[in-house]
Amino acid sequence: MLDGRRVLLAVTGGVAAYKSAYLARRLIESGAEVKVILTESAQEFIGAQTFAAITGDRPYTSLFSDERSVSPHTELARWAHVIVIAPATAATIGKVASGISSDLVSATLLAAQRPVLVAPAMHTEMWEHASTQRNIEQLEADGYEMVGPFEGPLAGGDVGIGRVAEPDEVVARLKELMGTPDNAKRLLVTAGGTREAIDPVRYVGNRSSGKMGHAIANEGAGRGMAVTLVTTSDEPVSAGVKVTRVESAQEMLEAVAAVEADVAVMAAAVADFKPSDPSSGKLARSDGLESITLEPTPDILASVVARDEPPFVVGFAAETGGVERAVAKAKRKNVDLLVYNDVTEEGSGFGTDTNRVVIVNRAGDTDEWPMLTKQEVAADLISLVLSEINPQG
Ligand SMILES: Cc1cc2nc3c(=O)[nH]c(=O)nc-3n(C[C@H](O)[C@H](O)[C@H](O)COP(=O)(O)O)c2cc1C
Repeated sequence: MLDGRRVLLAVTGGVAAYKSAYLARRLIESGAEVKVILTESAQEFIGAQTFAAITGDRPYTSLFSDERSVSPHTELARWAHVIVIAPATAATIGKVASGISSDLVSATLLAAQRPVLVAPAMHTEMWEHASTQRNIEQLEADGYEMVGPFEGPLAGGDVGIGRVAEPDEVVARLKELMGTPDNAKRLLVTAGGTREAIDPVRYVGNRSSGKMGHAIANEGAGRGMAVTLVTTSDEPVSAGVKVTRVESAQEMLEAVAAVEADVAVMAAAVADFKPSDPSSGKLARSDGLESITLEPTPDILASVVARDEPPFVVGFAAETGGVERAVAKAKRKNVDLLVYNDVTEEGSGFGTDTNRVVIVNRAGDTDEWPMLTKQEVAADLISLVLSEINPQG
C-alpha cells in the first residue's frame, strides 16, 4: 500500500498523458496523497481540470505564476516523498539528464532529494536514438528508477518499443520501491505532553499538542523508515507508523525502552515533575488541598543517550529564553542534534501548525531555519538526520 506516501506526479507532453489521469486515481486508491505537475506540452494532451477533479487539488503548471507559492519547485520537491514522471518525454528526460531546470517539472526534479520513478513513452525511433539512450544511461547512473518502456502498439498505429508502462505497472513498481520499510533505519519518535496524575481525574500537564512529533513520524514513514511513535497525542498518524499510546513520563520511559532504534527524535514535552503521591480516589473540593508535593520525573532523553549502542539522538528544547540555553542543553544532554524553538514567539511552538526552529549540533553551531510549516520542518529534519547518519546518501 502507499498509505501516507506523498506522491508528486509529473505529466509531460505525449499522447500517453491521458493514462496519467487513471494513474493519479490508482495512486489515490492505493492510499497515496497526490499532487500533479503538468508541462505546457502535457496540457495539449490532457486538461488540468481532469486532475483537479481526481486529486482534489489543482495541478501546478507554472514556475512563476502560481498564487499558491512563490517557489513551487522547492516546495513541491520538499513536499514529495517520491516523484513519478509519467509519461516522460524524450525532451524532459534530456533536460533532467543534463540538469536543465527551465520549467516547473525539470526545476522540481533538480531541487528534489527524493526517489524518482521515470516512465518513458515515445516512438521507437525516439527511444532508440543515441541521445535518448545516452540520457537514460545518465539518469540510471544518477539514481533514477525506471519503469518501461515496453513493446506494443504506439500512437499513430505503429508497433514497437516505446509504450508507456500501464498505470497499474507504475503503481506496482512504486509499491516495490516504497513499500517495505527500511529496517536499517529504525526511527523512534516521542510526541505530546505527558500527564502526571494528581488523582484519577486531574493531572499536571503542559500545552504540547504532539503535532511536531507526529509530523516527524509521518515523514519518516513516508520516506521509508521503520517508525515507532510513542505518544500522548491523538493527532493523525499515517498507516505505516507503529503507535504506542502512553500518558505519563514513566509510561513513556518504559515504552521507549522497549524500542530499538537507529535514530531517536525525542519531540515529546515530558513533564519535569510529577505529584509524589497521587491519590487513588478523586480528591473532593470540600476536603481542601493546601499543596501538591512534586518530585522529578525520569529523564527519558538521558535513558536513550545512555544506551550501550545509542541511536543518533535528536532532542527538542521548547524554551522561552535565548538560543544560548539550547546550546548549553545540547552539550549537557549529549545529543547529536537539538531542535530549539521559542514557544512564546508567534507562530512557533505548542499547538501551532508552523514553527521557527534553530538547529544546534554537537559542536554548538546553530542553524536558524525560517518560519516553516511543521510538515516542512519534519521533512527538512529527516533529510538532515539521514544525511548525518549516511553522508554518502
Ligand atoms: C501528437 C504528438 C505526440 C507526441 N508524443 C510524444 C511522445 O509520446 N513522447 C515524446 O517524447 N514526445 C512526444 N511528442 C513531442 C513532445 O510533445 C515535445 O517534445 C514537447 O516539447 C515535450 O515537452 P515536455 O517534455 O516539456 O512535455 C509528441 C508531439 C506530438 C505533436
